[in-house]
Amino acid sequence: MKIAVLGTGVAGRTLAGSFTGRGHDVAIGTRDVDATLAISETDRIGNAPFSQWQGDNSDVRLMTFADAGAHGELVVNATAGGASLAALEAARADNLTGKVLVDVANALDFSQGMPPTLSVANTDSLAEQIQRAFPEAKVVKTLNTMNASVMVNPAGVPGDHDVFVAGEDADAKETVKGLLRELGWKDGNIVDLGGIRSARGMEMYLPLWLSLMAVYGQPSYNIKVVRA
Ligand SMILES: NC(=O)c1ccc[n+]([C@@H]2O[C@H](COP(=O)([O-])OP(=O)(O)OC[C@H]3O[C@@H](n4cnc5c(N)ncnc54)[C@H](OP(=O)(O)O)[C@@H]3O)[C@@H](O)[C@H]2O)c1
Repeated sequence: MKIAVLGTGVAGRTLAGSFTGRGHDVAIGTRDVDATLAISETDRIGNAPFSQWQGDNSDVRLMTFADAGAHGELVVNATAGGASLAALEAARADNLTGKVLVDVANALDFSQGMPPTLSVANTDSLAEQIQRAFPEAKVVKTLNTMNASVMVNPAGVPGDHDVFVAGEDADAKETVKGLLRELGWKDGNIVDLGGIRSARGMEMYLPLWLSLMAVYGQPSYNIKVVRA
């Protein structure tokens, strides 16, 4: 499948690399291709410059958000949550029309320092904002509740643990569940929470995820829902 991954950070790189390794034709989207390729320093949390990553992932083409949006039959939003609406505008609504739009973003607001707060919560969610802004896209929220390495390698965390999906379009969710299976998620661990409104809870888990990160000192953990 032709997949556009919007976002050049760790989440975008990890998903793009993994989809490419599974035979998909992947473009990764950015605001300014030349500017992104010109970065030569590691970022503030030690991630290598994009150009270095691309040297090891030369099958993934870097494009503008608009060109990547045009390329993808399915589009993944892996941009900073506070900028996702702007990034998707740049990808152009007509490039999203009728397509599955997989939203893995979290609306983290770092403006008041650490830990970040959520810029949208309780009565709304980033995924709902995206669905309202792009009504012709089929938004499916998933994978935002774990670290990028866990998204593409669930077996890296021992035992059974769960990934959630939420969205209005049943066929779009089936497409996304198929992609999740390709990434290694077992059917019994893919929990369909229903409509896009359920993205609120998925996004509001982030404060707990951040607290757990402080406790464990590493990001390779996940949720397992245990039932009677
Ligand atoms: N990292 C993880 O393990 C992880 C796990 C779960 C969920 N997520 C979520 O996935 C998303 C991506 O996370 P990340 O850590 O990979 O990277 P990030 O630093 O949160 O986002 C990087 C991307 O956001 C774009 N961006 C930033 N400001 C922008 C603006 N003003 N306008 C348009 N685009 C803008 C950047 O564009 P340029 O390419 O042009 O710089 C870049 O592509 C976030 O929402 C995050 O919460 C991440």
